[in-house]
Amino acid sequence: MAHQVQTKQTAQRTIPLFWPYVSPKAAAALQDVLGTRWVGQGPRVERAEDEFRFRFNVPHAVSVNSCTSALHLALILAGVRDGDEVITTPLTCYATVAPILYQRAKPVFADIRPDDLNIDPEAIERTITDRTRAILPVHWAGEPCDLDEINAIARERGIQVIEDAAHALGAVYRGRFIGAASPFTCFSFQAIKQITTGDGGMLTVLDEAAAERARKLRWFGIDRNFKGDIYGKFQIEELGFKYHMNDLAAAILMVELEDLDAVGARRAEIVARYRQGLKDVPGVKLVTQREDRKSANWLFNILVERRADFQRRLSDFGIETSLVHIRCDVYPILGGRRQALPVMDALEPKYIALPLHCSLTNEDVDFIIDTIRQGW
Ligand SMILES: Cc1ncc(COP(=O)(O)O)c(C=O)c1O
Repeated sequence: MAHQVQTKQTAQRTIPLFWPYVSPKAAAALQDVLGTRWVGQGPRVERAEDEFRFRFNVPHAVSVNSCTSALHLALILAGVRDGDEVITTPLTCYATVAPILYQRAKPVFADIRPDDLNIDPEAIERTITDRTRAILPVHWAGEPCDLDEINAIARERGIQVIEDAAHALGAVYRGRFIGAASPFTCFSFQAIKQITTGDGGMLTVLDEAAAERARKLRWFGIDRNFKGDIYGKFQIEELGFKYHMNDLAAAILMVELEDLDAVGARRAEIVARYRQGLKDVPGVKLVTQREDRKSANWLFNILVERRADFQRRLSDFGIETSLVHIRCDVYPILGGRRQALPVMDALEPKYIALPLHCSLTNEDVDFIIDTIRQGW
């Protein structure tokens, strides 16, 4: 790679951090739906769920309108309620913890690992109490967590695992797609994820009865497949929500799933290019990607020294960077003060995300690498 000297004048345009991937087939798929009777939850929702199930080899897939909704339903199905504790990572989106609060339970933060920024199973063990009802690991940036270790801890104590796989669609852990290792896994099709339905989500579950209950809960608690009279149909026994996916989103999801391999391959190519170009740059540390798993590469995170200077320098050259999410314990609603999490404390001033999306060209990536290599 030729490393040219950059000048600020080179910044004729901005290289954005994110850019949504929308399949070229999405418009026609939407047009098809608009000509039919079903724009709400209709037959395409079931078809999209079937395709998702086969694609990722998961027993049950229940589509919803967001990953946040999927997480909320999973917490209910896991029996999380008033006063329970749910262990999760501090380095995540507020959307991971808000549903814990919806259940009037308490998010408890376990520290992360210094190499891959994912929740540390040993820290989970240290954090468990008699009130722990569930563990909620997040596959940060798309790199799978230590699912075997986390599920072993949960099984031993009779508690549930709910995976937040909002970043991890298409990721692989020890030879299997993310989605079938734990009782519950939650995916996102929000605007800037690998593929998008605008907003949308999927809850995968191992247990058939739990899937049936989830289908009711996403529609006010009503069994939409009930074939008897209307009084029978509205025998609502449990408080549900309006969390379902509609046929417009399902139609987009199906065509986007067809493109996921290509999207994943392009994202992996960009990440490989970054990793090669940045591997020996003073002041930059790469985040570990483990060999027994395959990241979905949603974010490209690195650890940098003097992050504010780094961001300023890249911004001068039209390159967007972001933390994307801040540690959740500092949110006032979650306590508003840093808890004793030594690894999170050490990495907090260092982690940063560089642009990663399918609209990036190799020239864009090389320009970003060259800019970083010149120092900040
Ligand atoms: C880790 C994580 N969990 C959950 C969500 C929520 O996803 P959604 O916007 O589909 O509700 C996000 C959103 O980006 C996220 O980053």
